Amino acid sequence: MTTQEFLGKKEYTLHHQTVSESCPSNIALIKYWGKYDNQIPANPSISYTLNHCKTNTTMEFFADEPFSVQTFLAGQEEVKFAEKIEKYFRNIDQYLPWILQGRYIIRTENTFPHSSGIASSASGFGAIAKCLMNLDGSFSGETTGEESLRKASFLARLGSGSACRSLYGGLVVWGESQIKGSCDLFAVPYPNDEIHDIFRSFNDWVLLIHEGQKSVSSTVGHGLMNTNPYAERRFQEARENFGPMKEILANGDLEGFIKLVEHEALTLHAMMMMSDPAFILMQTGTLEVINKIWAFRKETGLPLFFTLDAGANVHLLFPDNGSEEQIKIFIESELLQHTQNNGVVKDVMNF
Ligand code: DP6
Repeated sequence: MTTQEFLGKKEYTLHHQTVSESCPSNIALIKYWGKYDNQIPANPSISYTLNHCKTNTTMEFFADEPFSVQTFLAGQEEVKFAEKIEKYFRNIDQYLPWILQGRYIIRTENTFPHSSGIASSASGFGAIAKCLMNLDGSFSGETTGEESLRKASFLARLGSGSACRSLYGGLVVWGESQIKGSCDLFAVPYPNDEIHDIFRSFNDWVLLIHEGQKSVSSTVGHGLMNTNPYAERRFQEARENFGPMKEILANGDLEGFIKLVEHEALTLHAMMMMSDPAFILMQTGTLEVINKIWAFRKETGLPLFFTLDAGANVHLLFPDNGSEEQIKIFIESELLQHTQNNGVVKDVMNF
């Protein structure tokens, strides 16, 4: 598969049009950290797409007006975001030849709190890419479900790498790996018949340890992998981790899953600490929570574990099978105190 497949080749008739789309966020289990030119990932990644944390976007297109973009986030005009989207549209015009031939008003809102520190770029670019493919279908008169979704994933990747995984539900893979059909240009759903039932219904409660802007953006963090002496070994390890992950997902080995997922999270943050300049996104509360989770697991044997994205928040993972009452009580009584404002976003993955 090459980028040629995604070049815009159709005939288009442009007109005034408003489209609305929604896209969920996702949380990686094997992490994408490090990339090459044109948003090609240095290693494959796999994520869970969330159910509740979403971005809802409405895009209004005014045909045959000079190209410009105006954006509103939760009703507030956001000039910086508009500049970012303008740059993004210019960057993808070979794939959507009509894209610079009009004016846009984009209104977007997240179902999760704005200040939460939960990454909105995955759901945000996912929703924008879906809106663009919706317009593309309307202007060309051709809508092809599966192909259009794949192109939306391809376009979302060019906005933010992890966004390409948000176009599909459940477990999703991005990057060339031993998973059938996977490639660097877009994400694909993990083969459905190779997933044990235990992984089909999972809780992800996000503890908001630190709300607000993080000190180093993902884009800068990815860049620092270029000079990280451990980067090559890390990329190789992530590729290798697809071996055990595949087996674990097929045979329902929850213990193996916990070990691998926590290892991936800690490796991501270890890479940050070994960057030059070094940076640390975890906060005191992050470490307190991790230690408490480990002590709880040792004591009770219950399957509560964590992953981290590029920030201080802790994603608490545990199966959603009706027997998790003790885990929920523990979170409320022992872990919530380490958040900034008793902040927790309760999400779930069901597929
Ligand atoms: C730690 O997708 O936000 O969440 O491609 O520069 O937009 P850009 O980066 P982004 O990086 C996500 C990094 C991560 C791991 C992951 O989601 O796989």
